[in-house]
Amino acid sequence: MLQLRTCECVFVLSYCYLALLTVAQVTSPSEVNVLLAVKNNLIDPMKHLSDWNKGDPCAFKWTGVFCSNSTGTDDYLHVEELQLMNMNLSGSLAPELGQLSHLKILDFTWNKLTGSIPREIGNLSSLKLLLLNGNKLSGSLPDELGYLSKLDRLQVDQNNISGPLPKSFANMSSIRHLHLNNNSISGQIPPELHKLSALFHLLLDNNNLSGYLPPELSKLPEMRIIQLDNNNFSGSGIPATYSNLSRLAKLSLRNCSLHGSIPDLSSIRKLYYLDLSKNNLDGSIPSKLSDSMRTIDLSENHLSGPIPGSFSNLHFLQRLSLESNQLNGSVPAEIWQKMNSTKSARLTIDLRNNSLSSISGALNLPDNVTLRLGGNPICKSANTANLMQFCGSEAGGDWTTERSMNSTTTCPVQACPIDNFYEYVPASPLPCFCASPLKVGYRLKSPSFSYFDPYAPQFELYVTSSLNLNPYQLAIDSFFWEEGPRLRMYLKLFPPANTTHSNTFNESEVRRIRGIFTSWQFPGDNFFGPYELLNFTLVGPYAGMHFDPKGKSISKGVLVAIILGAIACAIAISSVLTLLIAGRFARNHRKLSSRHLTSKAFMKIDGVKGFTFKELALATDNFNSSTQGQKEFLTEIKLLSRLHHRNLVSLVGYCDEEEQGLIMDHHISQMDYKGKGTLNFGSRLSIALGSAKGILYLHTEAQPPVFHRDIKATNILLDSKLNAKVADFGLSRLAPVLDDEGNLPNHVSTVVRGTPVSLTPYYAYILRKTYGIRGKSMHDDSEFASYY
Ligand SMILES: *[C@@H]1O[C@H](CO)[C@@H](O)[C@H](O)[C@H]1NC(C)=O
Ligand SMILES: *[C@@H]1O[C@H](CO)[C@@H](O)[C@H](O)[C@H]1NC(C)=O
Ligand SMILES: *[C@@H]1O[C@H](CO)[C@@H](O)[C@H](O)[C@H]1NC(C)=O
Ligand SMILES: *[C@@H]1O[C@H](CO)[C@@H](O)[C@H](O)[C@H]1NC(C)=O
Ligand SMILES: *[C@@H]1O[C@H](CO)[C@@H](O)[C@H](O)[C@H]1NC(C)=O
Ligand SMILES: *[C@@H]1O[C@H](CO)[C@@H](O)[C@H](O)[C@H]1NC(C)=O
Ligand SMILES: *[C@@H]1O[C@H](CO)[C@@H](O)[C@H](O)[C@H]1NC(C)=O
Ligand SMILES: *[C@@H]1O[C@H](CO)[C@@H](O)[C@H](O)[C@H]1NC(C)=O
Ligand SMILES: *[C@@H]1O[C@H](CO)[C@@H](O)[C@H](O)[C@H]1NC(C)=O
Ligand SMILES: *[C@@H]1O[C@H](CO)[C@@H](O)[C@H](O)[C@H]1NC(C)=O
Ligand SMILES: *[C@@H]1O[C@H](CO)[C@@H](O)[C@H](O)[C@H]1NC(C)=O
Ligand SMILES: *[C@@H]1O[C@H](CO)[C@@H](O)[C@H](O)[C@H]1NC(C)=O
Repeated sequence: MLQLRTCECVFVLSYCYLALLTVAQVTSPSEVNVLLAVKNNLIDPMKHLSDWNKGDPCAFKWTGVFCSNSTGTDDYLHVEELQLMNMNLSGSLAPELGQLSHLKILDFTWNKLTGSIPREIGNLSSLKLLLLNGNKLSGSLPDELGYLSKLDRLQVDQNNISGPLPKSFANMSSIRHLHLNNNSISGQIPPELHKLSALFHLLLDNNNLSGYLPPELSKLPEMRIIQLDNNNFSGSGIPATYSNLSRLAKLSLRNCSLHGSIPDLSSIRKLYYLDLSKNNLDGSIPSKLSDSMRTIDLSENHLSGPIPGSFSNLHFLQRLSLESNQLNGSVPAEIWQKMNSTKSARLTIDLRNNSLSSISGALNLPDNVTLRLGGNPICKSANTANLMQFCGSEAGGDWTTERSMNSTTTCPVQACPIDNFYEYVPASPLPCFCASPLKVGYRLKSPSFSYFDPYAPQFELYVTSSLNLNPYQLAIDSFFWEEGPRLRMYLKLFPPANTTHSNTFNESEVRRIRGIFTSWQFPGDNFFGPYELLNFTLVGPYAGMHFDPKGKSISKGVLVAIILGAIACAIAISSVLTLLIAGRFARNHRKLSSRHLTSKAFMKIDGVKGFTFKELALATDNFNSSTQGQKEFLTEIKLLSRLHHRNLVSLVGYCDEEEQGLIMDHHISQMDYKGKGTLNFGSRLSIALGSAKGILYLHTEAQPPVFHRDIKATNILLDSKLNAKVADFGLSRLAPVLDDEGNLPNHVSTVVRGTPVSLTPYYAYILRKTYGIRGKSMHDDSEFASYY
C-alpha cells in the first residue's frame, strides 16, 4: 500500500515552475513570509502595498522592497532595504522584521504606526539606518537595539516613546546620529553613552529626561551637535568638561532647569550656536566664545555682570539674545559696528529687561541690525532721545518672520505652456528654459544659523554638490521656521539646461537623486546640521515612475533566466520521460504504479531535485487551492499515475508532508515573448489533433476511462515541438467501467476533485502571457468531436 507519512517531497520529474524560480533568482522564502507578516500588521488605506502578493518580492519588485542584486551563499536574493516612507500606513511593526537578516535600511518615516518597537529589530545585525520618525509609536526603547553594532543612524523622533534611554545603547559602536527628540523618554541620560566614539549628533530635545548631564559625554571625540532642549535636569549644572568637546558646533540646552554658571567654552574653536536660555544659570557671561558664533541665546536666566567686550569680535553673529537677566554696565557698540556685512547680513540684538545703563561708543546702527533695549535703565535716562526707537517692548527673536523667497521671471507666461508641472528654471543659463521640477519637502533639524538668507547660496551649493547637480538646478521654492528652531523648506530640482536638454529628468536620474536623499549620502555638514526628507512626491511627468533600483517591470535578466529555465525544464522533462519509457513504466501500470509511489529508491533519480514543503508553499502561494481527504488524494494519485499518453501532461510527483499535493509537469515552450499568438494554421490543426488524441485516449484507452470535463485553450499546453498536452484534470470524472462479467457497475465509484497544487494566479498569468496560447475556451469535449 501507499505509505504517505511525513515525507520529504521528492518528485519524479522536476517541476518547471520551480525550475524557473531557481534559475530566475528569488527571494529567500523565509523573507517572503516576513514581508507577508509585515503587511498583515499594517493598515494600508491608500493601497500602496497592493502589489505585496504578486509573485516574488525581489523578482517582481514589490513597492518599497529593495533586494541584493545577486544571490547569497544560499542561492537566494535578500531584502536589503524596506523604504516605506510617507505612505499613510497605520497598524504596527511586525516582530518578524527581526528575521530580515540582510536588512540595511528600515524606513517607515511619516506614517501613523502605533504599538511599540519590536525588540526583535535588535537581531538585524546588518542594519545601518533605522528610521521610524514621525509615527505614533509608544512603549519604551528595547534594550536589544543596543546590539545593532553597524547602526549609523537611529531616528525615532516625533513619536510617543516613553521609558528610559537604555544603557545598552552604549554598544552601538557605529552610531553617528541618534535622534530621539519629541518623545516622552524619561530618566537619566546614561553616562555609558560616552563609549559611542563615532557619535556626531545627539538630539534628545523635547523629552522628559531628568537626572544630571553626564560629564562623561565630554569624551565623545566626534560630537558636533548636542540638542537637549525642554527636559528637566533639575539641579544639574553644565559640566565644565564640555569645554573638551573640541569639535562641537552646537550646544542647545534651552529650558532644561539647569543651575550654576556657564563654563568656559572658549576652547571650542568652531562653536556656531549656543542656546542656554530659560534656565536658572547665574554668574557672568563667559568672557570669550568662538569667533565663529552665529547664535548666542542666554536669555531668561539669572546672569549678572557686563556684556563681554570680546563679543565685538564675533563678526558673523546673527543673533545675540541676552534678555531677561540681570546684566549691568554698558553695551559695547562695536558688537554691531564690526559686523562683517559681506558674510552676515542680519543681526538681532535683544537686551531687554536687564540693568544696562549706557552704550559705549557711537550708536551708528548699520542696516539690517535690530537692537532692543526696552526694560533697561538706559531707556529711562533723559539724554537718550536717539535711543527711544529701541526701547519698545515688542517681542524679540524675529526669525519666525524671515521672508520667503519669491522667484520672479521676465519670460513670457505663454512660453512655458505645457501644464502646471512645468515652469521656468529661475537661474537657468539658457534664457527662459522651461522644465518640470522634482519637488522635495526637506527640513533642517538643527541648523547653526538664525537667519537663512545670508546662507542660502552656500546651502544651494551644499545640496547641489551632494546631489551632483549644477547649482542653477536647485531653487528653494519656500522656507519657514518651525519650533526647535527647525527650518522647513520646499526644494525644486530642475533637469540640466544645455544643448541636449530635456525638460524632465529621466527615471534613473530620479532614482539616483531620491536614493541620495533616502540613504543619507549627503556629506555631514556641521553648519546646516542633520536634515529630514519630508516628501518626494512624483507628479506630472514623473507620475508612475518607480524608485526601485532596476525599474518596475521584470528585468531582461529575469526574462532571460525564465527562458533558460524553460529550456532546461523542457530538456529535463523529455529526458526523464525517456527514462520512464525505457523503464517500461507505461506498461503494467496497474501493478507498478503504487510501487513507484512507495519506493524511495525510485524517487531518487539522478538530477531530480527534492522539494521541501516550504518551497512548494512559496511556489503555490501557500497552497492557495483546494484540499481534499486522504482517501480522494490516494485515489487521484492512483488514477493520474495510470494516465500516460504523449498528448497528456504526466504526473510529476506528490507531496504529503503537511499538505497533500500533486505536481503536474507543465509543458511550456511557445516562446512568444510579446504574448501575441503567432501560430500558423498547420500548427493549430496539429495542436487540435494532438488534443483530440489525448482526449480520445482518456475516453477509450485509459484504464479506467476518464472524462476530462474542462477542455479549454488554457488547459492545452505545448511542449517544445508544439505537441499538445491536455492538462488539469481538476473536474475529471471516471467513466463507468464494465466489470469482469461485462456489466455496468451500480454507481460511479470515484470522483476526482481539483488538482490541488496549482500556480499562483500571478505566475500562471505571466506564464500564459509569455508562453501560452490564447483562444476560445472549449468547455465541452464534444467541441473536439469533429477532429476525431
Ligand atoms: C550590485 O552590487 C554591487 C556590490 O554591492 C555594487 O557594486 C553594484 O553597483 C550593484 N549593482 C547594481 C546594479 O545595483
Ligand atoms: C494620506 O491620506 C490623506 C487623506 O487621509 C491623503 O490626502 C494623502 O494624499 C495621503 N498621502 C499619501 C502619501 O498617500
Ligand atoms: C531575535 O530576538 C529575540 C528577542 O530579542 C530573541 O529571543 C531571539 O533569540 C533572536 N533571534 C535570533 C536568531 O537572534
Ligand atoms: C502617548 O502615550 C501615553 C501612554 O504612554 C498615552 O497616555 C498618550 O495618550 C499617548 N499620546 C499620544 C498623542 O498618542
Ligand atoms: C552592552 O551593554 C550592556 C549594558 O551597558 C553591557 O552589559 C554589555 O556588556 C554590552 N555588550 C557589549 C557586547 O558591549
Ligand atoms: C517638539 O515638541 C515641541 C514641544 O512639545 C513642539 O513645540 C514642537 O513643535 C515639536 N517639534 C516637532 C518637530 O514635532
Ligand atoms: C515626566 O517624568 C516625571 C518623573 O520624572 C513624571 O512624574 C511625569 O509624569 C513625566 N511626564 C510625562 C509627560 O511623561
Ligand atoms: C569679512 O569676512 C571675510 C571672509 O571671512 C573676510 O575676508 C573679511 O576680511 C571680513 N571683513 C571684516 C570687516 O571683518
Ligand atoms: C540687508 O539685508 C538684505 C537682505 O538680506 C541684503 O540684501 C542687504 O545687502 C543687507 N544690507 C547690508 C548693509 O548688509
Ligand atoms: C513674495 O511674494 C509674496 C506674495 O506671494 C509677497 O507678499 C512678498 O512680499 C514677496 N516677497 C518678496 C521679497 O518679493
Ligand atoms: C511636501 O513638503 C512640503 C514642505 O513641507 C509641503 O509644502 C508640501 O505640501 C508637501 N507635499 C506633499 C505632497 O505632502
Ligand atoms: C548637459 O548637462 C549634463 C548634466 O550637467 C551633462 O552630464 C551633459 O554632459 C551636458 N551635455 C552637454 C552637451 O553639455
